[in-house]
Amino acid sequence: MEAWKAYLAEHKDRFLNELLDLLRIPSVSADSKYKGDVARCADAVKQAMLDAGCDMAEVCPTEGHPIVYGEKIIDPALPTVLVYGHYDVQPADPLELWTSGPFEPVIKDDKIYARGACDDKGQFYMHIKAFEVMAKTNTLQCNVKMMIEGEEEVGSANLGKFLEDNVAKLKADIVLVSDTSMISMEHPSIETGLRGLAYMEVEVTGPNRDLHSGVYGGGVANPINELCKMIASLHDENKHITIPGFYDKVQELTDAERKALNDAPFELDEYKKDLNVTEVAGEKGYTTIERTGVRPTLDVNGIWGGYTGEGAKTVLPSKAFAKISMRLVPHQISTEITELFQKHFEGLATAGTTVKVTAHHGGEPVVTPTDGKAYQAAAKAIKTTFGKDPIPTRGGGSIPIIALFEKTLGLKTVLLGFGLDNDNIHSPNEKYDIANYFKGIETIPYFHKYFAE
Ligand code: BES
Ligand code: MN
Ligand code: MN
Repeated sequence: MEAWKAYLAEHKDRFLNELLDLLRIPSVSADSKYKGDVARCADAVKQAMLDAGCDMAEVCPTEGHPIVYGEKIIDPALPTVLVYGHYDVQPADPLELWTSGPFEPVIKDDKIYARGACDDKGQFYMHIKAFEVMAKTNTLQCNVKMMIEGEEEVGSANLGKFLEDNVAKLKADIVLVSDTSMISMEHPSIETGLRGLAYMEVEVTGPNRDLHSGVYGGGVANPINELCKMIASLHDENKHITIPGFYDKVQELTDAERKALNDAPFELDEYKKDLNVTEVAGEKGYTTIERTGVRPTLDVNGIWGGYTGEGAKTVLPSKAFAKISMRLVPHQISTEITELFQKHFEGLATAGTTVKVTAHHGGEPVVTPTDGKAYQAAAKAIKTTFGKDPIPTRGGGSIPIIALFEKTLGLKTVLLGFGLDNDNIHSPNEKYDIANYFKGIETIPYFHKYFAE
């Protein structure tokens, strides 16, 4: 352990600079304009794996963006840790809200500001550096396999097939992922579940062309007006979702489980202050922790139509659109929810409009066990480096591939995340605290050590 500390201390500056270099590559998976950069990022990750001490590393092409795989097998008799992460990032827009360039990382107040700093470059890179620390000090306790993909932010459409095609290669004892958050450095925590996702797009059509809103206004249905009504009807006055059957499979927590969840430190006033809202809002009868962790939700992610340019244009539009996503909890099934939504929303078409519903990607909710050896190893590792037992929490975000690790590879996952909820992931001015980055690099080797014991 002394050797880890010494190695980390000696190479600290380089470990930070390497991450900054990685953050300079705009690996935006959603935008085909960045395809070359995504590929360049994959090459950089592969090189980083080799430099850190992997026996082999390769860039595996897919029908979309490539997957980077690397490994070091020290002894087939020892346990194997499969690390998963993603090198792709969300688009940076709206650019004007960034205080520095999203792909020109800067350090301010001991935080790294850049797109991907926390989600997930800063977090998966901790594993490459922790691996380097162990490999270069000859203290590896487990075999290590690393699979870092380039399509997480667009739904991991090609990773499922990669798992199916590579069951033997990916054989392991546990999947270790750093792509979630913890409560704070003072209150370290481990997420023990993630929500699923069903993502839809709707199109409402009224008249066959855009019309003068004076000449025709009042005479035919306005698809934007109608779409707003349809969307408004998706929640009742208690912010309960009105889609028939939506809650049928939702697992209600026991009183004891609810109590345990709500025992986690949470300051409602700070939460409101941080977001500059006077009130929180959500499903009646549940706390904010429950609303964002163990209850399903429905949110409009984007809505457009008509005229949105400068000034005013009097137009009665032909079409209106919205992107609507639902976060799912055990035991909802994304394909079933997609169907329920489709059927229900098509039925909302009002006189003079037609409605078309299409589905984007989805993913299943997961709960990770807290009684297994892997969770215990993670908890002990946190205890070692933070001096405190981690608090188990339920995460509100989604990582769709996690459910497939279990289904295809038969593997459980530990979500050992070091982000903070206010790291602005997917938002302007994404950041990652340097302290969290190094705390992660320090903690991960202990996971390997305790997992091997
Ligand atoms: N790392 C996040 C998910 C996350 C963030 C989980 C914070 C828990 C806490 C991941 O990169 C992500 O953004 N996932 C998407 C889903 C995907 C299908 C686009 C999400 O949750 O919206
Ligand atoms: Mn992520
Ligand atoms: Mn993300």
